[in-house]
Amino acid sequence: MLLSVENLIVKYGNIQALHGISFDVDEGEIVTLIGANGAGKTTSLYSITRLPPPEAPRVISGDIKYKGQSILKTSPDSVVKDLKMALVPEGRHIFGNMTVMENLILATYSREKDADLESEYKRIFKLFPRLEERKDQRSESLSGGEQQMLAVGRALMTGCNFILLDEPSMGLAPVLKYELFRTLKQLNEEGMTILLIEQNASLALHLAHRGYVLDTGEIVAQGSSESLMNDPKVKKAYLGG
Ligand SMILES: Nc1ncnc2c1ncn2[C@@H]1O[C@H](COP(=O)(O)OP(=O)(O)OP(=O)(O)O)[C@@H](O)[C@H]1O
Ligand SMILES: [Mg+2]
Repeated sequence: MLLSVENLIVKYGNIQALHGISFDVDEGEIVTLIGANGAGKTTSLYSITRLPPPEAPRVISGDIKYKGQSILKTSPDSVVKDLKMALVPEGRHIFGNMTVMENLILATYSREKDADLESEYKRIFKLFPRLEERKDQRSESLSGGEQQMLAVGRALMTGCNFILLDEPSMGLAPVLKYELFRTLKQLNEEGMTILLIEQNASLALHLAHRGYVLDTGEIVAQGSSESLMNDPKVKKAYLGG
């Protein structure tokens, strides 16, 4: 397994957010974690990438392994640089007063000196032509959907081969949602491993190979996307009947 989360218990102060969850992602897969508000989706991602939210979640017990080795003590920097995992956080967090291009350039800070960045910018502009049209525009003036594309493009510029996305469809018009999900599928076909967190279970299960359903800090269902889509309980609670 590329990534395995094992019996993870996580707290914020005295509040227990994850009650011993386990899930894994293999190389080349698209795996989704679905669940309602407060289920523990973002907490699961932050536990893996450890990018600091104001109050970081604390791992009480369990383990997170990358290729079989615990990464609980790996620095957030090293998760990006050495393990080549990149987070697209909830709410995007792009630098609004910088241009599209400056945001992309900033993401390359940890790259090797000989990385062929030019061809990667080209690749991102090919995936998201809107970003190329707007590359000198201040990012705060992009539409919500364009900002989401920039957040994905920025993650790609870290040179990652594993991308973790926190509700990328949030706030996007249907057309942009489908466009973004098509791009994720294309990235996966080119070899990118994807862990996708979504409240939009239908969209997520149509894209992913496998999924897990998270409910108040526990995994309550798991399996192939097809089996989850046909599971009466999942249908009723997450797919509108
Ligand atoms: N910084 C924090 N301090 C205290 N409790 C927190 C903190 N962040 C999250 N929690 C709690 O942990 C639980 C899981 O939250 P989390 O953000 O992981 O949910 P989520 O599944 O991402 O929800 P959403 O779909 O609303 O983004 C919730 O009960 C939440 O209130
Ligand atoms: Mg969340």
